[in-house]
Amino acid sequence: MKLFIDTANVEHIREMADLGIISGVTTNPTLIAREGRDFNKVIKEITGIIDGPISGEVISLDAEGMVDEGIEIAKMHKNMIVKIPMTEQGIKATKKLTRLGIKTNVTLVFSVNQALLAATAGATYISPFVGRLEDTLHDGIQVVSDIRNMFDIYGFKTQIISASIRTLKQLADSALVGAHIATVPYAVLKKSFTHPLTDKGIETFMSDWEEAFGKK
Ligand code: E4P
Repeated sequence: MKLFIDTANVEHIREMADLGIISGVTTNPTLIAREGRDFNKVIKEITGIIDGPISGEVISLDAEGMVDEGIEIAKMHKNMIVKIPMTEQGIKATKKLTRLGIKTNVTLVFSVNQALLAATAGATYISPFVGRLEDTLHDGIQVVSDIRNMFDIYGFKTQIISASIRTLKQLADSALVGAHIATVPYAVLKKSFTHPLTDKGIETFMSDWEEAFGKK
């Protein structure tokens, strides 16, 4: 499973890119608004850091507007992916953009049926929102697993981005049920590096070494 970072914070993207663990970025209108910066500038900076798929979301709600915005987003850089909400209009736009050879990420997916419609329209990626499902006491990981099975049965090429990841367990479970990609917030990526037994182990190795050979 590949790791993307789910943020529009350029410093966080740079830090994780330097560690060599992320191969793509997802943004959404909330994440862009949180940075309080111009969309085009932020995207341009991100394309200079990461050489991989970068999702930028449309804000139109009608198919025609989504297609127009999508064409502009795709023109920004060869790695841009047009993120489109999972609605009737969104699916119509996905079909049109696919015909134009533009890659899409259908977002706000919460069910197998929605995933089936998006894949049928030719979506490059779909993003099931694990955290938001689990916030409402649904099994988000089961939804990802079911979508993966359904894609495998019918040979869909659409890739699953496990999104709205809030916890270490949701990230681990996404990998275990076969999400192709997980898009992960900075804080969850940071936490994933650590384990109390790793820290304790390093401490013991260092003090044993110092006791035998003195300080380095
Ligand atoms: C997906 O691409 C979205 O940007 C994101 O994962 C949403 O996460 P949230 O539910 O924490 O807002």
